[in-house]
Amino acid sequence: MQRNIEILFDRAAIVARALDLVLQAYETAISKHGRFTFVAAGGSTPKPLYEALRARSLDWSKFHIFWGDERYVPVTDPQSNEGMTRSAWLDHVTIPPENIHPMPTGESSPEIAAHKYEQHLQAFFGTTQGQFPQFDLILLGTGDDGHTASLFPGTAALDVSDRLITVGQKDSQPRLTFTAPLINQAAQIIFLVDGAAKAQAVHAIMADQGDPNIHPARLIQGHVTWLLDQKAAALVK
Ligand code: 6PG
Repeated sequence: MQRNIEILFDRAAIVARALDLVLQAYETAISKHGRFTFVAAGGSTPKPLYEALRARSLDWSKFHIFWGDERYVPVTDPQSNEGMTRSAWLDHVTIPPENIHPMPTGESSPEIAAHKYEQHLQAFFGTTQGQFPQFDLILLGTGDDGHTASLFPGTAALDVSDRLITVGQKDSQPRLTFTAPLINQAAQIIFLVDGAAKAQAVHAIMADQGDPNIHPARLIQGHVTWLLDQKAAALVK
């Protein structure tokens, strides 16, 4: 497992570094297989990165965006990760609509929606049941409870290992989420984490010993880069 930790001055420095890494991954993917499959994180941390991306003149016809998790709300809801990403970024670039792959949140149940998105991914990548496609880059955040995507402590989603997409649970709120094995298959995973409130969780996630049921971001293995500001990294040795 390759884990790189970069401690940066503040959120702006994290965003600048993340932008560099996204652009590098974009160039690598395009030269390797003619397209870039990017998985957006939700929450507030990545928003300035999305705003920075809208100023770049990329070949958006080769850029495909997915989401690693989504609150089960309409895109017009202020809670929507898709809605935030569109207003911060996608509404301002000439990305073809068919290159935007939102998680469906209008099905009769989150379970049906999870299955539908999984089928969409299988059709996109040409994979079948039991195969985990490789995304070029997955962005993640973590909460002060050590969750990532919508893999929350003590939930059934943490144990799902035979699906691409499952239903997460934050308190009583259903979420759609990538499963840990799907995330871990990515060519590159980048965590963006800032603020003192997350220092304890980061320490627990990074510790040699620990329980992923308590700090689910411990499930994320593979080619992982942690971009931390000094406050979030305060307890990292
Ligand atoms: C979500 C995210 C979630 C997020 C963390 C950090 O839908 O909320 O996917 O996993 O990355 O909660 O959120 P902040 O960036 O707002 O601290």
